[in-house]
Amino acid sequence: MNYRHAFHAANFADVLKHAVLARILAHLRQKEAGFRVIDTHAGIGLYDLAGDEAGRTGEWRGGLGRVLDAALPAATSDFLAPWLAEVRAANAGPEIALYPGSPLIAAQMLRPQDTLVANELHPEDHATLAAVLGKDAKVMSLDGWTAVKSLLPPPERRGLLLIDPPFEQPGEFDRLARALTDAHRRFATGIQLLWYPLKDPQAVESFIDRVEATGIPRILRLEHWTRRVTPDGPLVAAGMLVVNPPWTLADDAKAALPGLTEALATGPGAGWRVGWVAGE
Ligand SMILES: C[S@@+](CC[C@H](N)C(=O)[O-])C[C@H]1O[C@@H](n2cnc3c(N)ncnc32)[C@H](O)[C@@H]1O
Repeated sequence: MNYRHAFHAANFADVLKHAVLARILAHLRQKEAGFRVIDTHAGIGLYDLAGDEAGRTGEWRGGLGRVLDAALPAATSDFLAPWLAEVRAANAGPEIALYPGSPLIAAQMLRPQDTLVANELHPEDHATLAAVLGKDAKVMSLDGWTAVKSLLPPPERRGLLLIDPPFEQPGEFDRLARALTDAHRRFATGIQLLWYPLKDPQAVESFIDRVEATGIPRILRLEHWTRRVTPDGPLVAAGMLVVNPPWTLADDAKAALPGLTEALATGPGAGWRVGWVAGE
């Protein structure tokens, strides 16, 4: 387990992933009934943008940094607003020096009737996460792929499963496809948010084909790339699947992504995609 999210926090991929996460949580909060968030690969929860790791890569400047500096069109800033509100909430003053990861965004957005289960296998990161979240969450140290099975269905029968693996080992797309199916079998009405890197377009297409073949309905695919993807280059593209997305997410993302793509573009060929892997 070499991957540490501290090197990548608030990068271009976190921007879209966490903006979608915050919109899903805002949607779940529209009903009074409690819900549960299960974050299987949670990271440490809070990242110091002035710290050694973030400073060494500077990736956050190409993500959050660009968003903060850009004059965004209204549809894009509306789309990002719930996420940016949580980024600001994680900072004591107007200056943004800290960045909340997925479990802290969730913890900040939950109400007393809601529950967060944040799981992180790396022992040091698990201890940091537990300290960051305190009593606001159940913090576990299971293998995230096992957690998908053992933690579902949630007693509330409403909620979100977030699977955001590091993709540092072969077979991660297979595990992701299997997890989606396992989760749907146990919790068909739940929302799932599954993140993936877009480095090898063929691997992504065979993953999508496999997901489509499951016959599971209502799966939205969102992707964006900051410039043309090249086989051996750095990560410049990422995507996610959302099972049972909020009704307006596809249209909202279609309206927002042109402006976001322009703000995050680092070279020729930047682009985005919003489409259904499976409809109703
Ligand atoms: C991409 S990061 C998570 C980032 C976080 N979801 C966010 O958005 O702020 C992936 C995390 O998964 C952890 N991890 C790696 N293998 C794992 C496993 N088998 N089970 C649970 N966590 C794992 C890593 O230590 C790392 O912190």
